[in-house]
Amino acid sequence: MSRTRVHNFSISLDGFATGEPQSLEAPFGHAGERLHEWMFATRFWAAQGDGSEGVGSGEVGSVGVDHAFAAQHGLGFGAEIMGANKFGPPGWQDDPDWRGWWGPNPPFRTPTFVLTHRPRPPMEMEGGTTFYFLDASPADALAAARAAAGGQDVRIGGGAAVVRDFLAAGLVDHAHLVQVPIVLGRGSRVWDGLEGLEDGYAVEAVPSPSGVVHLTLTRRVPRA
Ligand SMILES: NC(=O)c1ccc[n+]([C@@H]2O[C@H](COP(=O)([O-])OP(=O)(O)OC[C@H]3O[C@@H](n4cnc5c(N)ncnc54)[C@H](OP(=O)(O)O)[C@@H]3O)[C@@H](O)[C@H]2O)c1
Repeated sequence: MSRTRVHNFSISLDGFATGEPQSLEAPFGHAGERLHEWMFATRFWAAQGDGSEGVGSGEVGSVGVDHAFAAQHGLGFGAEIMGANKFGPPGWQDDPDWRGWWGPNPPFRTPTFVLTHRPRPPMEMEGGTTFYFLDASPADALAAARAAAGGQDVRIGGGAAVVRDFLAAGLVDHAHLVQVPIVLGRGSRVWDGLEGLEDGYAVEAVPSPSGVVHLTLTRRVPRA
């Protein structure tokens, strides 16, 4: 059965998945790149390719615990769901030419559903990514993504509001969050309103020598 999974979702010690304010110049606000430095050091990230020498060759980047977790992000997915604030900076809905942060060939390579109260027509990108814009409940968005996923899993790609809403709605089967040893104090926090979440999940924590802690939440009772 197609599962709903979250991967590589990085949070501060106080649970923020982004700082503030979000902007074109600073997509993660005052958090900068600190939430993802653990991932940038991995071979998984290098293999994504950013055009620099050696990148993508499979010969750069760490191959330890952080890489092993990070690489799960790419395995077994037929669709992604993300929030409007992941897709672009505040106000992107007013720019008819905005096509996401990722250039002409985004890394998703599947149908990718952007939740927004101001939807627009689908955008077909290079490499297999098509962005669909939906104003829908989490359950209805998941039904659409699952129908497009060809029997594979659906990734909930963030940001915090969307991960939180899907957890609150009981729609997440497996979540991998990465606790980074920084305190942000402000931003968009994932845990608000999720009191007692652990009752429904087996929670494991795996510390990495890099200083981050990988948290996995696996639903105790599979969805019918
Ligand atoms: N730490 C990580 O690993 C990670 C991963 C991914 C993203 N991020 C970051 O997280 C930040 C974004 O997170 P966020 O919590 O601010 O926002 P978000 O979860 O990306 O998006 C929330 C927005 O999506 C739209 N939306 C959500 N649910 C909807 C629904 N059911 N129907 C229609 N529209 C819906 C609404 O926007 P509108 O009302 O404006 O349409 C809402 O304000 C960005 O900085 C991003 O880079 C971090």
